[in-house]
This record gives sequence, structure tokens and C-alpha cells, in this order.
Amino acid sequence: MTTLRSMDTDTAPEPARLEALRETLIGQLRELDALHSEEVAAAVRVVPRHLFVPEGVTLEQAYAPERAEITKEDEHGVHLSSVSAARVQAMMLEQADIRPGMRVLEIGSGGYNAALIAELVGEDGEVTSIDIDADIVARARRLLDATGYSSRVHTAVADGEEGLPSRAPFDRIIVTVGAWDIPPAWTDQLAEGGRIVVPLRVRGLTRSIAFDDAEDHLVSREYRLCGFVPMQGAGEMRVRLAVLHDVEGEEVGLRLDDRQPADTEALRQALRQQKSEAWSGVTIGGSVSFADLDLYLATTLPDYALLTGTPKAREKGLIASASPLGTSTLLDGDSFAYRVVRPVEGEEDLYEFGAYAHGPDAAKVAERLVEAIRTWDREHRDDQAVYRAYPTSTASEQLASGLLLSKRHRIITISWPAHTR
Ligand SMILES: C[S@@+](CC[C@H](N)C(=O)[O-])C[C@H]1O[C@@H](n2cnc3c(N)ncnc32)[C@H](O)[C@@H]1O
Repeated sequence: MTTLRSMDTDTAPEPARLEALRETLIGQLRELDALHSEEVAAAVRVVPRHLFVPEGVTLEQAYAPERAEITKEDEHGVHLSSVSAARVQAMMLEQADIRPGMRVLEIGSGGYNAALIAELVGEDGEVTSIDIDADIVARARRLLDATGYSSRVHTAVADGEEGLPSRAPFDRIIVTVGAWDIPPAWTDQLAEGGRIVVPLRVRGLTRSIAFDDAEDHLVSREYRLCGFVPMQGAGEMRVRLAVLHDVEGEEVGLRLDDRQPADTEALRQALRQQKSEAWSGVTIGGSVSFADLDLYLATTLPDYALLTGTPKAREKGLIASASPLGTSTLLDGDSFAYRVVRPVEGEEDLYEFGAYAHGPDAAKVAERLVEAIRTWDREHRDDQAVYRAYPTSTASEQLASGLLLSKRHRIITISWPAHTR
């Protein structure tokens, strides 16, 4: 069922070539806004990433900033483990702000990232790396051994949901697998004033969030866009898919997270009805990410889902975009509207946001979505939201305002700054 590839130890590249590849990578990571500090650059400069990637990966690929290398898949081809992309690793290490002498827990092993952390904490620090999969731990241990890091990284097979109490407390916990919640073990094992960096999924959208300890809750300092393989074990929580159409490769569905309700049958009927459209007048350059708009919509619309579709469904005209990850969608009972873009006439690389909607209330729902896009543009285009994670026992008057989500172990709130313009 699985493949676990190993490194190629036959070839020993020239030190000067490796040095050049790593310097190039550091420059690219800076340009990508993933690496800022001299400390993380120094770690990238010395750890041999090419010895942690699977067999068959070339040196250039090993040191390419955006490549994650898959180390294990399940029988359906779902990725279970990887050596994460260097950009994501550098970005999360910067978010973690690891200092010499710190005790760090990495959840999700691969070897390379743990070696980078070992460089950052130095001889006086401690690195613990745990993974739920014994094969992955064995692989990481073997590679850490081969590269001289085994005495500086403690590895263990464990479900990250429980952390590793025997090695706690930790000044930093870096979660390198997609999480839906923040289990109690992480805060229990966090040293006072510690930080957790975690790719947390909220309404289907994952951001790597740096959470600081604020005594009775966690508060985000910042977040960055990222993607990760999903958490297995006790903390597993999959996104639900409501299938709206599935005929010979023409598939349309809605990805629903955080237990959002949806009347699938009514929405299935809605998709068959004539579409309405509305346009916002809000524009964006062709190479500019609209991840911030999506996060705003996901965390301010009362009912939100991600519309997915196959290229065949788009070719048939059932939907306008065929993103496997999904397009921001406002649900409203038996109707829905999703975000679309169209080129702005007379402009080379400029697009306008709008909405396509289906269902009995299509025109109204399209207008509501477009209005939310305008509000984002007017008030929040340059803002970051603040995530907070509270124990479920927290009294409602102590919670911040904004979107409130009840997860298994936490109440998560997401607030946007008050409009000051
Ligand atoms: C992206 S990989 C880790 C990458 C690694 N940190 C590196 O050096 O690049 C994610 C890992 O998380 C592991 N994982 C999934 N669920 C887990 C859980 N509940 N506890 C611990 N590890 C888990 C997977 O087995 C996988 O190896």
C-alpha cells in the first residue's frame, strides 16, 4: 500500500556546488518573503537538504524552494508524509523565532526540519520530533544519523494529539501537519510565554498561525498561507463533501468544514437552475494572490463552503471555475453564490471580482457576496485577522467578537480589526 523511498547515497556532490545551491536557495527564500533572519539563513546554509529527500530527486530539485517531496502515500494516492517545501519550513521557523537554548517539539517528522531546528537551538537546546508513523520516524532517525544530527534530535513514535509529556515543557511547538484543532496537550506542555506554530484549518482554509500564550488563551501574532498533509490519529477531522452533481467525470461539490450545515438536496436543485451574476467593481492584478479575500469571506460570511469541480464540469458550463481546492461560496438555504473573476476591458492584467449564483434567491445571494467583497476592499484589504483559541469552558463574555467556531477542544474566534479609515 505504501512507498517509502530512501535517499541516494552513491553520489557525493562537490562542496562548492552544494554551497552555491544553498546560497541560491537562501536568496530565493528571501525573495519569497519566507526567510528574514540571519539565524535561519545560517541553518539552511549548513544542513544538507539533499540527503533528506527521497531517491531520484535531483540536487536542483532538492534545493528548489517550492518543492515538497512525497515520502509516503496511501493506497488511493493521498499524500501521508513529505519533506516539506523549503519555503514553508523557513517561513514557519521564522514564525517560531527559535532562540539558542530553547526546547522545541516538532510534530510530524522528516529529519530535515528537525536538523534546522537543532542548528537554531544550538548545543544547549533540545529538539524532539514525533510522528504517528513508525516508518517515518525510522526514516528520519536513519537520515539524522547519517548526517550527524542523531544526538541533537530526539525522535519518537507518538500521536501529536498527546504531544510528548516526558520531554515537556517546550518553549516552541511546531506542528508540521495540517491540524483542525489545538488539543489540550499542546498548551499543557507549552512553557510559560511559549509559542505554537500550527497550520490550522478553519472553514476549509489553512494558515500557518503563530500563536502566543496569553495566559487563559492563545492569540495569533501572524499567519501565512500554506498547505499540509492532513493530521491522522485522534485529531483527524476531514472536510465533508456535499456532492451537487456527479455524471461521467462532471463533478461538482461543496467542501464543508467546521460542521457547517447545508441542505444538499436543495443546493443540488439550485445548481440546475439558471445562474444570476453580480459584479463588484473591485479589481486585482493577475499575479496577486486573493487568499486574503477568501479568508475574509470564510470568516465573515455566516454560511461558507468551497465549491469544487472537475475540468469536465467547467467545460460543460455547470460551473465557472474548476479548482480542486475550492472557490469561496456563500450558502443561503436553497441558494448559493460563488466568487468569480473576469478580465477588465482595456487592461492588460487586471481582473474584477464578481459572483455567480444559483437557486431561487440567486440574485439576492450574488449581491450579498459582491457586497462582502466590496467591504473587504474598502475596509480590510491590508488587514490581518486575529485568531484566538480558548478552552471550551471559557465564559461567552470573555470571548473576542467575530466568527466563533466550536471545535473539539477549543473555541476559536477570528476577529477583523475595527474599521478606522
Ligand atoms: C509534512 S510531513 C512532516 C515534514 C517534516 N517536518 C519535514 O522535515 O519536512 C507530516 C507528517 O505528519 C505526520 N503525522 C500525521 N498525523 C500525525 C499525528 N497525529 N501525530 C504525529 N504525526 C502525524 C505524518 O505521518 C507525516 O510524516
